[in-house]
Amino acid sequence: MRIVLAPLEGVIDHLVRELLTDFGGIDLCITEFLRVTHSLQPERVFYRLCPELNQGGKTKSGTPVRMQLLGQSPQFLSENANRAIELGSHGIDLNLGCPSKIVNTNKGGAILLKDPALIYQIVRQMRSAIPKDQILSVKIRLGWDDPTAVDEIADAIEQGGANELTIHARTKTDGYKADAIKWHMIEQVSQRLKIKVIANGEIWQRDDARQCRIKSGCDDLMIGRGTLAMPNLASVIKDNEAPLPYSDLLQLLIKYSDYEIAGDKGEYYSNRIKQWMVYLKVQYPQIRELFRELRVFNSPQPIVDILNREAQIYG
Ligand SMILES: Cc1cc2nc3c(=O)[nH]c(=O)nc-3n(C[C@H](O)[C@H](O)[C@H](O)COP(=O)(O)O)c2cc1C
Repeated sequence: MRIVLAPLEGVIDHLVRELLTDFGGIDLCITEFLRVTHSLQPERVFYRLCPELNQGGKTKSGTPVRMQLLGQSPQFLSENANRAIELGSHGIDLNLGCPSKIVNTNKGGAILLKDPALIYQIVRQMRSAIPKDQILSVKIRLGWDDPTAVDEIADAIEQGGANELTIHARTKTDGYKADAIKWHMIEQVSQRLKIKVIANGEIWQRDDARQCRIKSGCDDLMIGRGTLAMPNLASVIKDNEAPLPYSDLLQLLIKYSDYEIAGDKGEYYSNRIKQWMVYLKVQYPQIRELFRELRVFNSPQPIVDILNREAQIYG
């Protein structure tokens, strides 16, 4: 079984990738999307999104990182894909699942699910633009509003020459409704296609992973919010490790704070840590209390002080 760390724009950046891959169990990371319009992006844009390009395209613990592109122009997606590979990305991932209104108005992300013919053209051109030994993966939802559309979409992707397909088992109109998850809809695709299919969506626990693999017929999984809620989820799934103890989680948040405050997005630290805590509240009831206390602060120091105090109590 392979476990892929999902792209979460504005949440999982290179610092979070580094911290999460340190726990082991994650075989590949996908970056937040690089928006492609009508130009080849300057190199600095690639490095900003994926600083791991400076270290062979891998996180410090050695996990390969693949850049994700979003757009609708076969030509410019291909040019940018080729540049990402030249700079050291481990393959390319194409985003066909983003439900954002702005992105969709510009004909990127999930709106392309309505147009399998264009998907085919994009995939074919991107495939021929990057070296043969580099993986081209595509990430989709089941469809725009009709989950049975997945067959035609998946065929277009395979026939276009992609090597892997990740399916987030909901339609665009399902949004993120937990009860709309349809792992079983992936099965017919994973059994029919020759390329690898990776199942994604609503995996929060070891047992969710088991159920998802049974229902989808996929060996490989992509996990996103679940691993923010339980940072060692990949090892919990693969090796039956115990969930990270609360005291270790506090140390992780302190380390994250050090990284983030000193890093390129330091000014957003207080928002970013609160955003992470929203996911952590799912698995750690103690975080609810902590969140209530620190949510009023917008500068880093009081938040760090609260984390340090909590770590001493639980240390
Ligand atoms: C805040 C947020 C940002 C996301 N950003 C991206 C993105 O940049 N590219 C993408 O393909 N999917 C993105 N997604 C979708 C996730 O990769 C994933 O498909 C979805 O969250 C379902 O998986 P999960 O239940 O394991 O989180 C995002 C989801 C969330 C909640």
